[in-house]
Amino acid sequence: MKCNVDAGKTLLVDGPASIDIVSGEVEVLAAPMKVGTRIIVREGKRIPLEVKSNASFEIMLGEGASYEEVEGSTIPENWIKTAKEIVSEASLKLGFVAAVMGEVDSGKTSFCTYLANTAIKEKLKVGIIDGDLGQSDIGPPSTIGYSILKGHIKDLFDVNAEDAYFIGLTSPGAATKEVIGGLCKLKEKVMMEEVELVVVNTDGWVEGEDAASYKLRLVDALKPDAVVGIQQSDELLHILNGIGGAKVYIIDSPSAIKKRDREKRKILRELSYKKYLRGGKVQSFLINWINLEGTLLGKGIQPSKERMRQIENLLGVKPWYCEETQKTILIVLGRGKWVAEENIRKLEENIKKRIKIFREGEETGLLVSLKDINGKFLGIGVLQGIDYKRRAIKIYTPVKEGIHTVHIGQVKLDKEGKEIGICTIFTN
Ligand SMILES: Nc1ncnc2c1ncn2[C@@H]1O[C@H](COP(=O)(O)OP(=O)(O)O)[C@@H](O)[C@H]1O
Ligand SMILES: [Mg+2]
Repeated sequence: MKCNVDAGKTLLVDGPASIDIVSGEVEVLAAPMKVGTRIIVREGKRIPLEVKSNASFEIMLGEGASYEEVEGSTIPENWIKTAKEIVSEASLKLGFVAAVMGEVDSGKTSFCTYLANTAIKEKLKVGIIDGDLGQSDIGPPSTIGYSILKGHIKDLFDVNAEDAYFIGLTSPGAATKEVIGGLCKLKEKVMMEEVELVVVNTDGWVEGEDAASYKLRLVDALKPDAVVGIQQSDELLHILNGIGGAKVYIIDSPSAIKKRDREKRKILRELSYKKYLRGGKVQSFLINWINLEGTLLGKGIQPSKERMRQIENLLGVKPWYCEETQKTILIVLGRGKWVAEENIRKLEENIKKRIKIFREGEETGLLVSLKDINGKFLGIGVLQGIDYKRRAIKIYTPVKEGIHTVHIGQVKLDKEGKEIGICTIFTN
């Protein structure tokens, strides 16, 4: 349908929808939109189209989509002021780092986009690091990634990751060290590109003491020049008050924000997995020929015959496959096989090693990442299964060549690419 909007108003469109800009001057988060541009809004997303001079749009709405016109801009005044200040500071030195914090759905991605576009208007070279592994914009979910921008962006999701770091989880709680370490590595890479402004988005885990200590450790390690906290009332103060060494800006969460429930966020992630798995096929690798990360598998040796007998006797069942490292014995049972907790404890006491036990087939559906020989991120895949006896691993992935390392994550997907939970069979 056709829709005319007067200058000075904002058109808010909730996806799934597509919008063609037919005429007029329109900006999305400070990015000027050319007439003729088609904008796709995913389900669970809202886009603000700020009309600068009378505009007309052709809108197509999917199921559950809608749009409305509001007066003025939905960008808060303090976003404009903060972005201006950061951009003017960033134009004075190379590699000015601004980290953005806020709870889930506070507007982090939108502010990062707005800030980047504001800097690009001033001809700055901008890098964005996306540290929100749950709602990743750059790179697939469960990764953190970066990109050097080539121009204005209306949606960070359109930006390709130059490199990414796989965490294998969609929330940082159990992987704070990895996230912090990964972000620092990505920062180093971005810095080598001689950008003027580095915008760092972070995850939405801000509530409670653990979140605060994690965010402060992150700031300590990353050493940003500025931290921008987006809040509705004072939900970030317990973090922001602890920050030293960076200039802290506090800005509002826009009232036009569209909040998404857990289910919507999951759907958005699933759309993203789909995007990064498109065109994949199943490939087989011998465990001895590739480097496996995120698991002890392939790191140990096959136990001796005598050891195997001992394991079998104590467990009361014959393992399908065993591998022994210095501190751990990895035991894979046949499908449907089961052992009593008590027997596992007995075995542990006897052998004085940790026992890690799971069933054949339990690995199917685990999300993996693939890297080349230099550790550069190539893409993601889904583990189809491991043939423990032949020591072969089958992966569905669109990555065609150069695979040197397979990093097994903990997110598990079903055949349709839907998240079915976290699986820790390979974690230490
Ligand atoms: N100023 C704004 N006007 C209208 N919609 C907005 C605005 N800021 C954010 N949104 C929308 O609200 C939703 C949540 O914002 P987002 O930036 O994705 O938050 P976060 O990254 O903190 O989860 C998104 O769909 C976004 O497009
Ligand atoms: Mg976001």
